[in-house]
Amino acid sequence: MELLPRTAAVHDGRLTVGGVALADVAAEFGTPAFVFDEQGLRETAREYVREFTARHPRTEVHFASKALPCAPVMRILAEEGVGCDVAGNGELAIALKAGFDPEKILLHGNAKSDEDIADAVEAGVGLIVIDNADDVVRLKRLAPATQRVLVRINPDVPGDTHASVSTGGKEDKFGVPLEQAAALLAEAASAFDLRGLHVHIGSQLLTLGGFARAAEAIAGLGRFPLYDLGGGLGIAYRDEVVPSIGEYAQATVDALRTYLGDAELIVEPGRSMVGRSGVTLYDVTTVKRHVVTHVAVNGGMGDNLEPMLYGTVFTPRILDSERPDETCDVVGRHCESGDLLVRGATLATPQVGDTLLMPATGAYCYSLQNNYNGARKPPVVIVNDGEARLAVRRETLSDLTARDR
Ligand code: LLP
Repeated sequence: MELLPRTAAVHDGRLTVGGVALADVAAEFGTPAFVFDEQGLRETAREYVREFTARHPRTEVHFASKALPCAPVMRILAEEGVGCDVAGNGELAIALKAGFDPEKILLHGNAKSDEDIADAVEAGVGLIVIDNADDVVRLKRLAPATQRVLVRINPDVPGDTHASVSTGGKEDKFGVPLEQAAALLAEAASAFDLRGLHVHIGSQLLTLGGFARAAEAIAGLGRFPLYDLGGGLGIAYRDEVVPSIGEYAQATVDALRTYLGDAELIVEPGRSMVGRSGVTLYDVTTVKRHVVTHVAVNGGMGDNLEPMLYGTVFTPRILDSERPDETCDVVGRHCESGDLLVRGATLATPQVGDTLLMPATGAYCYSLQNNYNGARKPPVVIVNDGEARLAVRRETLSDLTARDR
């Protein structure tokens, strides 16, 4: 049950989330569908704020919107009082639509355009994170001297995770190299209201030691009133041992106090804020029993690229079934063998017409969805207190050609 959303329960043999049977969600809204647990999202946001502020009152928790750039769901987080980090003016537009206070929005990006910066300045975002010397040149043209900024440092501390999502290594493209930091900090301080430093070493981190190493690496750059120590806490997709939010808060606050002093703290969790609260529902379209059993569903790499890009191993199940177990490969409907969602999954003897539930798809699945093979992006359904509501409609066939001229 730990992989499922917080409110998951079984009633009369039917799996419910937010008091709604997932089978009823599939029947009402069709599949594939992303389903989000509103109470789970709220409880996670509250846990984040509570665990950090209990240890370090001057902490702000910012949701990393790249994990789920979906305004109706982000609105729930905004209502819980968290801020938001955006990488560019697209995510900024979504965050504003979701109702985040611009003061609590922070702009990132290793390749910000003039448009990204101008839109952020116009919206009045609280902080802009300078990633490189070219950012300073652009900001000087586009932002007032009163703009509050952080400077992102590359701490030369790779995150202990998949190479594609480690961001703190010397050769990674993010931030100012340590050796060049002093000069850039001096320049940023002379042109803007320099508040402090930013580091983010990677995503899906299952160990906590990197936060202290990153803080130690930037300690020699001077003392600042504010440090943003990034996000990155991992979640469970199968049987991984994952630090709790409290343990993560302890490690981060300890890193801050030990190496950087009693400053203001920002953290930017994405995956761990929303990942567990989302599930995907599919229909089983075809079952082929041969040298392996291929269970094909009506989605795939159009709505979940995690297995293909990062080797993530999910734990699917056939909804509300108690048939005997069978080892299967869960595949999608896309035209390549790489469209493999889970190899060697244990499923209750799948049959055509079953609903397949994929837990822990709340982060980065909606973000990375695409229209490969003309797939229409799935709807987002929010469940809460026994009710299901449509938050984002399914794409239509005419959406697929709507931009053509
Ligand atoms: N802050 C910054 C500056 C980031 O680059 C990221 C993630 C975060 C915060 C949030 O990290 P989180 O708490 O979600 O780990 N597309 C990949 C994930 C890439 C994450 C990139 N940066 C995936 O689907 O797994």
